[in-house]
Amino acid sequence: MSLPSGLSFAQAPPITVPFRFFLSAPLFALLAALLALWFGPSLMDSRWQPSVLALTHLMTLGFLSMAMVGAMLQMLPVIAGSPVAHPVGVARAVHLLLVPGVLFLAGGFLLGSSWPMRVAMVLLGGGLLVFAIAVGISLARAASDNPTVVGMRFALAALGVTAALGLILASNFSWEWWLVGWVQVTNLHLTWGLLGWVGLLVIGVSYQVVPMFQLTPAYPKSLTRWLTWTLFALLLLCSVPWLLPEAGVPEQLAVAVGLAAMAVLAAFAVVTLRLQSQRRRKQSDVTLLFWRFGMACLLLVLMLGIAGQTMRDTGNVPGENLMAALLFIAGFAVSVVNGMLYKIVPFLIWFHLQSLLMGVAKVPNMRQIMPEPGMRRQMWLHFLAVPLLGLSALWPLLIYPAALLFGASMVLLEFNLLSAFRVYRKHAKLAPEINPKTT
Ligand code: HEM
Repeated sequence: MSLPSGLSFAQAPPITVPFRFFLSAPLFALLAALLALWFGPSLMDSRWQPSVLALTHLMTLGFLSMAMVGAMLQMLPVIAGSPVAHPVGVARAVHLLLVPGVLFLAGGFLLGSSWPMRVAMVLLGGGLLVFAIAVGISLARAASDNPTVVGMRFALAALGVTAALGLILASNFSWEWWLVGWVQVTNLHLTWGLLGWVGLLVIGVSYQVVPMFQLTPAYPKSLTRWLTWTLFALLLLCSVPWLLPEAGVPEQLAVAVGLAAMAVLAAFAVVTLRLQSQRRRKQSDVTLLFWRFGMACLLLVLMLGIAGQTMRDTGNVPGENLMAALLFIAGFAVSVVNGMLYKIVPFLIWFHLQSLLMGVAKVPNMRQIMPEPGMRRQMWLHFLAVPLLGLSALWPLLIYPAALLFGASMVLLEFNLLSAFRVYRKHAKLAPEINPKTT
């Protein structure tokens, strides 16, 4: 296998840098599934329940952000040609702060107690700050004409805003309820988190990985030039009513900004699906199917969003917000990240073994590192879980089969990742015997 052109793999960090994050992520999603089984249909009663808030952060911080942080630390030297300084130390520190941080945050919500929340604030604030400084320096040094780098910069800024608002909300939770308009702040926090941090990073990274891993034509330049800018600008506009309440932003303008953000995301999903239909290799693989499923879920979320906006005056679509949130997180974001892991992980293992064994010993190919049947089994569990999760917003009892299937899919994902890592460990042990220079 040849290395994709235009990418610099020479400065790639040690394999443990991204792997510690990749191996932790499914365990948080599994914990979320167990919580869903424990709390059952009552989860659908209100979004403000401690159980819902705990579950939300096990998924958004524990699964999504964990995997995204690992992927960014890995990708920066390769895609941007600008490595993070001291990657091993940074990865260790960020991981050691985020893992207990997410657990304390979830525990703080569940126990309704201030002290775990305060500990979480220190751990999460510290971990995300170390990550933002290390990655921020690397992104500032990278060439700015690369649309993936631009997307990553906006995503990092969005993570900063999300974390700052999250810490404000957590302080409200841990001390006394001092925050005026906390519902609005929560909505702003989740918009920056889901559309900004998750959405902008997925868009920016897609420009590179969809053509590279799914062998599609490149994204049109006319799109890559404006998409992330526009989404970021719209997020800033969303924040005006909260930052400047005296500005009296008319309701219609706020609705127009929301619809414009949906149009940006719809353009991204439609173009991605079109590019995938033009790919050079007609065989479908697991990553491609995960991404197609993710894009379909994103389009469904946008349709629900538009239905919600247009039916505002005539009454709400039942369960529409909850269903949209479930489909965005589990259907779109988890699918895309899961699909990415199935390309990045075998590729990284193959790449590191290739350089360790220097062609002296046979390096297993990517299919041997991550066998297709195991990935497909996990994919089908996920594809069954997501529609049931979405529908549980309407029929809460469906949360039981949905959470069971989702939990099983995460067990299998962890198993697949661990098996691949075991292949790496087994072959890497040969390196010092064959090639003493690697010791
Ligand atoms: C430093 C990290 C974070 C902290 C301390 C934090 C804290 C909080 C708090 C305290 C709330 C509850 C607000 C309330 O009920 O008063 C909340 C809500 C929420 N957060 Fe975070 N958060 C963080 C990161 C994130 C990230 C990265 C995302 C998404 C990618 C996210 C998504 C959400 C969502 C979706 C809600 C609303 C849940 C609902 O309405 O049921 N949070 N956050």
